[in-house]
Amino acid sequence: MKLLALLMAVLTLAMASPSAKAPKSKPISAGKKSTAKSSKSSSLVLLYTSCARGQIRACNCTKFQFGGYGRELTLLKSIRKSNKDVLLLEGGDATAGDDFQAKLKAEVTSSALTLLGYAAMVPGEYELGKGGVHYLDYFDPKSVPVLCANIPSLCGTQQGFVPYVILKTKRNLRVGVIGLLNDAITQEMKRRGIELLVTDPVAKLKSLMPKVRAKSDLVVVVYHGMPDTAGRFAAVKGVDLVLCTHIMGRDFLFPDKSTNEVNATVDKKDDTYIIKGGTATNWSLGRIDLALSSSGKIKNATHRLFYLDRRYNEDPAMVKVYDEYNNKVTAAVLDQSKNMRSEMETLLVKRGVSVDNIRTRLRKSPFAGDGKCKECHSDLHDNWSKTRHARAMFTLDKTNQGFDPECVACHVTGANARNGFTNKKETPELVNVQCEACHGPGLKHCESPTSDYGAVGEETCRSCHTNERTPDFDFDTAASPH
Ligand code: HEC
Ligand code: HEC
Ligand code: HEC
Ligand code: HEC
Repeated sequence: MKLLALLMAVLTLAMASPSAKAPKSKPISAGKKSTAKSSKSSSLVLLYTSCARGQIRACNCTKFQFGGYGRELTLLKSIRKSNKDVLLLEGGDATAGDDFQAKLKAEVTSSALTLLGYAAMVPGEYELGKGGVHYLDYFDPKSVPVLCANIPSLCGTQQGFVPYVILKTKRNLRVGVIGLLNDAITQEMKRRGIELLVTDPVAKLKSLMPKVRAKSDLVVVVYHGMPDTAGRFAAVKGVDLVLCTHIMGRDFLFPDKSTNEVNATVDKKDDTYIIKGGTATNWSLGRIDLALSSSGKIKNATHRLFYLDRRYNEDPAMVKVYDEYNNKVTAAVLDQSKNMRSEMETLLVKRGVSVDNIRTRLRKSPFAGDGKCKECHSDLHDNWSKTRHARAMFTLDKTNQGFDPECVACHVTGANARNGFTNKKETPELVNVQCEACHGPGLKHCESPTSDYGAVGEETCRSCHTNERTPDFDFDTAASPH
């Protein structure tokens, strides 16, 4: 959260207005078509994501909010349309967290990897249980192979957990992809009480190399680790490219303000290209364009990040997956709330309080609702009802997110107050950003109006208009709420 806020603050400075250009994809070499005579491709587009950390979809609160699999699929389709040989890889830590919603999101992530056509994934610490959930169990390795060459307890244990895959592109280029993890993770996991042996990746690579090399035109290592520990792979003969997919916050790259894209680095050690993955929180898609000689050697490599902003509509197929997710979130929210209430009631009944008493006491709301305010402040109410505050729940409903705990707090009234908004079904009278979202609970004021009720300051607005959600919010120039 803190990181995101910081990122957004910087983004605000860096970005004026992203242009609404159509997505473009750039073939790296002109004259690409003339190589059709060769059975081998002369270019390859390697696409990747990593460190999405459970961000399956952008909230869309502002044009600065990027990302999500829905937008990614739209961009993918356009890249695949204009390039023959495209491979898409997931570099790990696609998931994070451990609450019910994080788990439902992991299901979405898993569906997304299949739907978007990922060719393989390498697990990160979160898939291996760092956050308390073994998220790898949520994925289907038969559908998207999981590359885990140096994890003996996983590799080869069932179909789809493999050390490497040989991927054949449309133009019959054979790309060997080996998945490795940083062995330092063994210690880190131990500290979290997880027994997981990750063996020396260099030794593993050495032993695999002859086999993989013999079957491939190009050998790519996807390494869930930091680039500063990746140089050692260059010493193993035959590795063409290492993609490092563990990214730290400080390595975040900010997009160019006019294109929402940014060039990223490509390093080379001996004959091996080393690429530091730049994607995180699912905001961008990484794209590596490789120009290849007829023998499959890399002649040139470029690396660019495409931030998934509003110019990319969400693909309908992915929206369907989101909708199923939202239905599950809704059911879980209603279930939880029902259980919590009945537990509370049981507890109080045990203490000898009558059920009717409990119901009125538990739900005695200090909020009056905007209809009550209208009775005496009808002009202000008229004005307010024309603002977006008055339709904030409708905004969420449009995308089937009206029950999402990650959304509602700022799109309703009194979400954090005692006996304020709980959910749309139980407290429908408190949806939208009503009078009392700013002025505070007003039932008492309605009964005996005084002028000292309801002072509003900048901090009131800022509780919802955070840097992350409204990076360009300016209290002094904001339109009057009524
Ligand atoms: C029964 C009529 C009545 C109702 C209902 C009512 N108000 Fe008021 N409100 C008043 C009156 C009268 C004042 C002025 C009190 C004074 O100056 O002593 C006032 C003052 C206020 C003020 C302070 C204005 C100032 O002087 O700074 C706010 C804010 C306010 N109302 C908001 C609300 C909200 C929000 C609601 C609904 C929850 C609401 N009122 C419902 C009659 C009402
Ligand atoms: C409870 C959360 C919340 C609070 C408090 C809040 N806002 Fe908002 N505001 C929102 C949301 C959510 C939207 C967008 C609603 C939508 O379009 O769905 C919004 C939209 C706006 C807009 C655009 C409105 C339009 O009609 O174009 C302005 C301006 C604004 N808020 C100003 C303020 C100011 C000024 C304050 C403080 C006095 C404030 N807001 C307090 C949540 C809040
Ligand atoms: C921290 C408070 C907060 C949370 C949480 C939040 N929003 Fe918002 N949202 C806002 C504010 C404030 C605005 C108004 C932004 C502006 O216009 O500057 C807004 C605006 C929007 C808009 C833009 C409406 C428009 O017409 O431009 C959409 C869509 C939206 N939110 C959806 C969501 C979804 C979906 C979630 C959950 C994933 C969510 N919001 C969570 C505060 C929040
Ligand atoms: C987004 C926050 C916000 C919402 C929602 C909001 N107000 Fe206000 N209200 C303010 C702010 C800020 C002021 C003081 C500055 C101003 O007058 O614009 C204010 C001032 C007032 C005042 C006293 C000054 C005046 O203009 O008479 C009253 C009364 C009032 N609001 C009532 C209401 C009622 C009734 C509603 C709902 C229909 C409402 N407010 C909704 C933020 C809000």
